[in-house]
Amino acid sequence: MIEVLPIFTNSPLRNYSYLIYSQRTGEVYCVDPYNAPLIITHIKKFGLKLKGIFNTHEHGDHTEGNLELKEETKCLVYGHTNAKGKIPGLDKTLEEGDICFSVEEESIEVWDTPGHTFSHLSFVHKNPKTVLGIFSGDTLFNAGVGNCFRGGDVNVLYDTMESKYVNLPDSCLLYPGHDYWENNLAFAAHVEPNHTFRETFQKTRKDHLISTIGWERQLSPFFRRDSISLKNRLTELGETITDDRSVFLTLRKLRDRW
Ligand SMILES: [Fe+2]
Repeated sequence: MIEVLPIFTNSPLRNYSYLIYSQRTGEVYCVDPYNAPLIITHIKKFGLKLKGIFNTHEHGDHTEGNLELKEETKCLVYGHTNAKGKIPGLDKTLEEGDICFSVEEESIEVWDTPGHTFSHLSFVHKNPKTVLGIFSGDTLFNAGVGNCFRGGDVNVLYDTMESKYVNLPDSCLLYPGHDYWENNLAFAAHVEPNHTFRETFQKTRKDHLISTIGWERQLSPFFRRDSISLKNRLTELGETITDDRSVFLTLRKLRDRW
């Protein structure tokens, strides 16, 4: 069995790092290390051996802890082929479909998910029956998606969402690169007011809640492109909506200015 420990870093960017580990084998991998000493403390507490770092992409707030962890533990650093020369300490590159960790019947599979940047991977926790969780980096956030103005393309992000993320099962856990709940829910309420489920959810939400894709389908305007009330509201805001893609692009544009 593969277990997951989210580590929230109280930085201005509200970063998440994650430990992916097996108690049985004693192996642990870290997704997007930010605060290396904090990560080492957790690894020691569990008595695990850090085998590697999985970087979702090349931005510094996702690779901050790479070199310190590598020096301390001699672990390997994994990332996208396009991130060569951009990710500190990169040892091995990963491609779509690679299995980067497996224990018994569970595995972590690599997805190539461009859009936020062109060196962006997602890590997919699977068993033979279903997808259990996804480490989405800066592709998908709680009630939102990543921006595209630091080396990305919003049309490509839409394609990634359509070809990959929209097909995930409702029960799939979402492990994003940052906790942007607060701002994203406020934006969601702006573009789709009077949404009863979202309002109730926000009132009862616990800090740093790990969400599911099922919840995201109800909460995130980026998943709710069919919503009549959302489309009406965008039109009311002066936007021209033609198709599904235009809803997504318009939402991202408005979120950039939010
Ligand atoms: Fe990023």
